[in-house]
Amino acid sequence: MTHVLVLNGPNLGRLGVREPEVYGTGTLAELESAVQAWGGELGLTIEARQSDAESELVGWLHEAVDTRAHVALNAAAFTHYSYALRDAAAEVTNAGLVLVEVHISNPAAREQFRHTSVLGAVATGTIAGFGFDSYRLALVAIAHRSGTNVEQGA
Ligand code: DQA
Repeated sequence: MTHVLVLNGPNLGRLGVREPEVYGTGTLAELESAVQAWGGELGLTIEARQSDAESELVGWLHEAVDTRAHVALNAAAFTHYSYALRDAAAEVTNAGLVLVEVHISNPAAREQFRHTSVLGAVATGTIAGFGFDSYRLALVAIAHRSGTNVEQGA
């Protein structure tokens, strides 16, 4: 079974309360249960976690490498400046695992500082701007890509 860590970064525990006009009214608990359901439909086992701490997110990326888990990562504001997360994310993709950078909003359509992602260049790909559906699309991408890898024996 393909295992996926769905990791959410700082302030995403505030979903539903924080800027609902940008992030919607759904809570993190609702997002995580939707992610579980989508994963089930796609034949993925999902572990969803959230942390406001950079070091915890770095540790979870190390865990992904060590346990051969693919990753859907919404690093939130860390996306824009955390070289520590970038280095850890690079380890995931260098290990042949899929890492999808996910955003609920479309950072390219927002303030200038959100236009930079230090993760994008080391991610397998990025999905942004589709609300909670961004996570479903990320899981579809992971299911397809990891299936291809299996067929290729990679
Ligand atoms: C976000 C976009 C980031 O710019 C922001 O800091 C977030 C959430 C998103 O999902 O749209 O916290 O990653």
